[in-house]
Amino acid sequence: MPQTVKGVIARAKGAPVELVDVVVPDPGPGEAVVVVQACGVCHTDLHYREGGINDQFPFLLGHEAAGVVEAVGPGVTDVAPGDFVILNWRAVCGNCRACLKGKPWYCFATHNATQKMTLTDGTVLSPALGIGAFIEKTLVAAGQCTKVSEADAGAVGLLGCGVMAGFGAAVNTGGVHRGDSVAVIGCGGVGNAAIAGAKLVGATTIVAVDVDERKLEGARHFGATHTVNSRERDAVEAIRELTGGHGADVVVEAVGRPETYEQAFYARDLAGTVVLVGVPTPDKQVTLPMIEIFGRGGALKSSWYGDCLPSRDFPMLVELYRQGRFPLEDFVSERIGLGDVEAAFEKMHRGEVLRSVVEIAGGTSA
Ligand SMILES: NC(=O)c1ccc[n+]([C@@H]2O[C@H](COP(=O)([O-])OP(=O)(O)OC[C@H]3O[C@@H](n4cnc5c(N)ncnc54)[C@H](O)[C@@H]3O)[C@@H](O)[C@H]2O)c1
Ligand SMILES: [Zn+2]
Ligand SMILES: [Zn+2]
Repeated sequence: MPQTVKGVIARAKGAPVELVDVVVPDPGPGEAVVVVQACGVCHTDLHYREGGINDQFPFLLGHEAAGVVEAVGPGVTDVAPGDFVILNWRAVCGNCRACLKGKPWYCFATHNATQKMTLTDGTVLSPALGIGAFIEKTLVAAGQCTKVSEADAGAVGLLGCGVMAGFGAAVNTGGVHRGDSVAVIGCGGVGNAAIAGAKLVGATTIVAVDVDERKLEGARHFGATHTVNSRERDAVEAIRELTGGHGADVVVEAVGRPETYEQAFYARDLAGTVVLVGVPTPDKQVTLPMIEIFGRGGALKSSWYGDCLPSRDFPMLVELYRQGRFPLEDFVSERIGLGDVEAAFEKMHRGEVLRSVVEIAGGTSA
């Protein structure tokens, strides 16, 4: 029987989010219903609400979550009811041209649930990143459930998006190596995860850049060796100065704006790497001198979800977290309820939080 549960939707561009009844179908073939225990508020949820991703309103928001599998549909063998899982938005297909080339982290045909969650009047919801997890129970493709050791859902759920994206932007896409110099522009949840990742793999100089002093304080906590407030000083000059006049080996842009992308472009060393993990809105443009693109060499890369493979990376990072070697819990600024998502967007906008995490009442009793 389909279940009716509470979930948070964005009904129209810019309109405040609403907590409404959502109908969740029983899992069909290849699908699973998951009791959501916790879901972080990511900037991408706000991008959806602002119409910056696409206009397929209404959206069921939330996509950075952990919970317990309640039921699986026919043919599902990898997860079973009772499994503690982190939800991912890269359920690798195994058959697309990226997968067939042995690069499944680029998978171009990732799986989502086939059936749709709806409002009680039948209106079909678009789940954010094919997940939709500001909700008591959600329907996903079984491949979107990555089984991990049991841990604090509020902390490890963050691996489902922002922390994985930031960590992977530095470590997977940027290939940060021991001894490298790294600069990270934008120190929200994503940027700080890039900093924590760079620290973990042994980068020696880690420069954090932000316009907000509170974020820079956080960045020092996660491993930045130097901080630059780019409202007060020129970020490019400061990064060069801190890297022997050369620029950083890897610069991670975790804002998604033309001016910060340009800073990243000019703040890297010759043959260095720029990684764009911040998501720009469709109206943004950059203009760069072509001779500089050539003359500086190296690589200009984008990082989708930190080039992660959930099956490889989530259990590894949960293990490092359980060993006290990767401070996932420090990304959690506050724990809130399903009714507090709009207020969390405002706090995010004001720069007051790294991650607000929605904890779902009843979510732990599955
Ligand atoms: N590529 C991916 O797979 C992926 C995944 C998750 C999130 N994202 C994107 O990453 C970006 C960051 O996400 P978040 O959740 O950390 O957001 P956030 O709002 O928590 O953090 C953004 C940070 O950038 C800082 N900032 C804003 N303008 C700046 C400027 N001009 N110079 C320097 N710093 C500036 C802010 O002060 C803030 O600390 C967003 O664009 C988000 O959509 C990408
Ligand atoms: Zn594929
Ligand atoms: Zn996200």
